[in-house]
Amino acid sequence: MTLGKTLTVRAPAKINLHLGVGAPREDGFHPLTSVYQAVGVYDDLTVEDGDSWSVDVTVSDWMDRSHVPLDGDNIVDRAAALLAGHHGLAVSGSVHIDKAIPVAGGMAGGSADAAAALVALDRLWEANTSDDDLLALAAQLGSDVPFALVGGTALGTGRGEVVEPVTDTGTWWWVLVPSPIGLSTPEIYRHFDRLFPDAPAVPPMPEPLLAALEAGDPHALAAALHNDLQPAALDLRPDLAKLIAAGESAGALRGVVTGSGPTCVFLCESADQARETAAELRAAHDVVLVTTGAVAGAHPVSYV
Ligand code: C5P
Repeated sequence: MTLGKTLTVRAPAKINLHLGVGAPREDGFHPLTSVYQAVGVYDDLTVEDGDSWSVDVTVSDWMDRSHVPLDGDNIVDRAAALLAGHHGLAVSGSVHIDKAIPVAGGMAGGSADAAAALVALDRLWEANTSDDDLLALAAQLGSDVPFALVGGTALGTGRGEVVEPVTDTGTWWWVLVPSPIGLSTPEIYRHFDRLFPDAPAVPPMPEPLLAALEAGDPHALAAALHNDLQPAALDLRPDLAKLIAAGESAGALRGVVTGSGPTCVFLCESADQARETAAELRAAHDVVLVTTGAVAGAHPVSYV
């Protein structure tokens, strides 16, 4: 059955409620104990049937398009090649990405695009890839790509690519403040290694945070938010400490750097508190987003 000529898949940004980082493994990656949450900031990826292959991008007006690599080595090119190779198919179609997830922001925007590409091209090419195979291909593309497929709230282990859902009964209100200047993920990990030469082989499980999610208690969750990469991010970007203090004094329960930064996220008790916090932060920051989690992973939103 032909599904149609064009198909749009929406994939969410992630934030880290907990990011525990261990000492680097032999392959250079760091063992992680991560709790991810998918939040309502999305990239939409549209694929259209065609014999040749192309990828182009438009970005939200506050974002700099030049930061998105479009030189044939975009993560979407790699996703397409991997999926096609898995099935012995030729890569074909034209892809358009409509980005709202900050680029190089620590929110897994590239991973969201890769996950969306896998879902979209699987349908366009009628490849019927099993969920297990799709997750395995996602893991080859990047540590955060499997989570972008799964969404919700999930525990990530291994190098972040082994994901399993956790019980989450809350609706969480977040204020997100991206930064106009991105941070390099490898650089943050290298700085983490310098700061913490005695990091453990396996970072411990964040039990109080998992209990807060199960209880749906924002105050307990705020107290339990933690990111082992935050000291490295703050060292390289001291302005982020001021931003976190400003968000907390504007009313948020707690602010933290998310992932490898520089985006900072603020947990709020309610929609009103989130809007008030955002309004105050807008005095000094051009882009301040209000959103909720958890939301679904990469999913089709339209066929034409
Ligand atoms: O897996 P991904 O492509 O997202 O990783 C980007 C970079 O981040 C890696 O090349 C590595 O430098 C760093 N990284 C790491 N340990 C992880 C995940 C990422 O050191 N668990």
